[in-house]
Formats: sequence, structure tokens, C-alpha cells
Amino acid sequence: MSSITIPFPDDWHLHLRDGAMLEGVIEHSAKHFARAIIMPNLVPPVVRSSQAEAYRQRILAARPAGSEFEPLMTLYLTETTDPDDVEAAASSGLVKAVKLYPAGATTNSDSGVRDFDKVIPVLERMAEVGLPLCVHGEVTDPDIDIFDREAVFIERVLAPLRERVPGLRVVMEHITTEEGVAYVKDNAENLGATITTHHLIINRNALFVGGIRPHYFCLPIAKREKHRLALRAAATSGDARFFLGTDSAPHPTDAKENACGCAGCFTAPNTMSLLAHVFEEEAALDRLQNFASCNGPAFYRLPVNQQKMTLVKRDTAQAVAATIKTGAGDVTVFDPGFDVFWDVGV
Ligand code: NCD
Ligand code: ZN
Repeated sequence: MSSITIPFPDDWHLHLRDGAMLEGVIEHSAKHFARAIIMPNLVPPVVRSSQAEAYRQRILAARPAGSEFEPLMTLYLTETTDPDDVEAAASSGLVKAVKLYPAGATTNSDSGVRDFDKVIPVLERMAEVGLPLCVHGEVTDPDIDIFDREAVFIERVLAPLRERVPGLRVVMEHITTEEGVAYVKDNAENLGATITTHHLIINRNALFVGGIRPHYFCLPIAKREKHRLALRAAATSGDARFFLGTDSAPHPTDAKENACGCAGCFTAPNTMSLLAHVFEEEAALDRLQNFASCNGPAFYRLPVNQQKMTLVKRDTAQAVAATIKTGAGDVTVFDPGFDVFWDVGV
């Protein structure tokens, strides 16, 4: 039996939703993470600081009894976002980042940005106050192949935007390509990237094994094997610019097993066991703490958690619930397709 003890992890990209879904899923993140950056793509989106404060209160109220899980709030960037409201939300400590969704890129992104000229004043203010921009890095042009949308976004949107607002601190969210990894490595200043658990495990073949597999459909979509390997190398390298953002994105099972199924993998319950498995495979267990516990706080200028987590490798495969029940319907848990012996606890 082997075990590893790390500072308690944080999740730097999480969808908790609202109402009955929030109540059903929050315990799974609260159990294994001290803090999480909470995505603002609700309906309607969390655009103003007053909405972020109200949403934060709903999250705090939904926590299991005794939990000290801390939601780190974000604002959803629109073309009419007010720089003063953003600055006030940052200086009060309420908001830790602003999220950029190109309009139409993913779930509930219709209020996102179409004309980047319109958001330059907000981005300049964020650069002044050091507030990070979390970027969903995919172009939405239907003429661009879905598997190329991240690489094209870097070239056409992200690189020019960072030149226009050089002091802006940017997190490339859920990178999925070797181009994403290379861009982060080549641009040392003010740049970090999150990587999800599932993109370290599946490549695009997983979507079509013996038929269509809706529970492996997420955005950005999983890419070729060479990209998965580049993500694994980055995540397990210890490099401070790469950190965990699970992008755990619950949808009711019937909304995914559907003629027009929703994008999102729900990995909150088993992420830490899966990461221990992946890092052991890469002979990098000693660097799991960089990825899951230390690099994110360093980027966000927050302390590493004092509390510790011990992961233990058991002799037998660990059972994980295939679905969880919520008041908004059952949610299917991400199935890695292999046995996992790592267990969180102790
Ligand atoms: C996310 C969701 O469901 O909100 N889905 C996903 O596939 N990741 C949206 C997102 O982060 O793109
Ligand atoms: Zn997401």
C-alpha cells in the first residue's frame, strides 16, 4: 500500500449551478476541495457584483453542515460590463476573476463577447488592479473545425488581446491542445492555464467507442492523443503555470443522453482519485501537490491551504457511484474506463 499527503487541493474552474442542482452537487466539491473558482454561466449569467454576492450566499447556504468550503466568485464579462463595478468587486475581495466567454462558445454563453473592442476598458481596469481574466479559449466561427478552435483562438484572439492589454493577468481555462501548452510556456508573463481531469484521461476516440458516448462530450472537446500527452506532460511537470481546474459541469443525465446533448463532464466526486492514478502512471506523484494544491494559489496570490489531504492506494479497485441523485435529476459521474485504486481520506 502506498499513500501521499498533500496540502488540501483547490479547484480553479468549477460549475456548481444553482437551486436543486447546486444543493445536490456541492457536497462532492466541498469534500475534496477547500476553495473553488465558481463559473458564472447561470441563466441569467452572474454579470454584476450584486449578483455575485447573492450567488455566493446561495452557495454558502447550500454547503453541508460544518463545511468551510470557500466559493471564489467570478463575474461574467459582457459588452456592457461596468469597469467601476468590477473594480469595486475586486477590491472588496468578493470577486477573484472575470470570465470571458466568446458569445456562443459553450453552455449559456449567449451573453458573451462578440466585439472585443467593447471590453478593452474593463480589461485595462482589470490589468490596473491585478484581477485575472479567465478565458474560454475557442473561436466560435462555424467555418473553423471544432478540433481547431482553441489553436485558432490563440492566434486570432488571445495573442492580439494580450498585446493590446499587456498587463492583463490571464488564465487560459481548460486547455486541450499542445498549442495551448506551448503558448503558455512561451509567454512567461502574466499567464497561467487550468487543465481538467478528464482531458488528462480521454482523447477524442472516447466519444465514439462502439457508438456515441454523450458523457464524454464536453467543451472544449477532447482532442487527439498527442494533445492528451502534451497535457499530461504539462500537468505533471510541476511548472507553476499549470494548475487544476476540473471544469466539473453537471447536467441531468437525460440532458446529455439526448438528440442534442449538453456539453460537460461531472468529475467532482472522483477527481482526486483519478489524478493520483494519472500522476502515478506518469511517475510524478510527488508533483501532484504542485498541480492540485500549490500552483493555483500562487497564481491567484492566495495562501496554500494549511489543512492536508492523504490519498491512499488500496489493494482493491475503489467503487464509485455511477450516478448521483439531485433534486434536478440524476447526474452521471465521469467514468474513466479503468479501475482506480486510489482513495481519498484518512
Ligand atoms: C460547461 C457547462 O456545462 O457549463 N460545459 C463544458 O463542457 N465544459 C461550460 C464550459 O465550461 O465550457
Ligand atoms: Zn467550464
